[in-house]
Amino acid sequence: MGPEPEKDSPVRRRQVRSFVRRAGRMTPSQQRALDELWPVFGLDLEPGEQDLDNVFGRQAPRVLEIGFGNGDTLVQQASEDPETDYLGIEVHEPGVGHCLIAAREAGVTNLRLIAEDAIEALESRIPRHSISRINLYFPDPWPKKRHHKRRIVQPAFLDLCADCLEPQGSLHIATDWANYAEHIDAVFAESPRFTCVERREHDGDRPLDRPGTKFERRGLKLGHRIWDWRFDRVC
Ligand SMILES: C[S@@+](CC[C@H](N)C(=O)[O-])C[C@H]1O[C@@H](n2cnc3c(N)ncnc32)[C@H](O)[C@@H]1O
Repeated sequence: MGPEPEKDSPVRRRQVRSFVRRAGRMTPSQQRALDELWPVFGLDLEPGEQDLDNVFGRQAPRVLEIGFGNGDTLVQQASEDPETDYLGIEVHEPGVGHCLIAAREAGVTNLRLIAEDAIEALESRIPRHSISRINLYFPDPWPKKRHHKRRIVQPAFLDLCADCLEPQGSLHIATDWANYAEHIDAVFAESPRFTCVERREHDGDRPLDRPGTKFERRGLKLGHRIWDWRFDRVC
């Protein structure tokens, strides 16, 4: 075994991830979708920044969803908004398989999926100032205090999002965990990169500018409230 990485080295930082890879049950149809549809909708990241105009074959506004889960929300948005290109990032393979099936059924052509850690993609693969909107819907809440460091919303994450957003870009977040909502308010209050332009606390009684999500429905069934924010990039 080699020496322990230094406290602030990139190697050590990458050990605190916002997810744990679960050996999820992949259904046969999800596995088939990964085999057959990944070449259509999948984006295998090349070293360096990706040429997104080339990936989508056009220049259009781009929305990035981080942690799309089963992808139903992402596919619905892509399907309803064909003038915009949609990129989704998710590490949970059965979710990626589910999303591929939904994408084929919807017949969308403006959607590409990345099956890697969003932090690594934002760090060096998504071009700077290339995204008009980032959606982060119901990120893993990591409720135990000793796990709070795994929450994806951290100062460094805000910097990465701001770097990838266009100057007028926005970051949209939703959660159903009161303690995560407090955490999100606190992290953004300290950030010079974003300003909060909308904050709503509600019981799922929309209209919102997003469809409902699987984890939102789960939270509402448990009697949780929902928090939705829109933060605009400032610098
Ligand atoms: C609680 S689920 C929410 C899923 C979906 N957005 C919804 O609302 O139904 C959070 C998702 O984020 C994914 N995730 C967490 N950290 C991630 C990361 N660093 N990169 C990509 N996906 C991540 C997890 O695999 C999980 O599917």
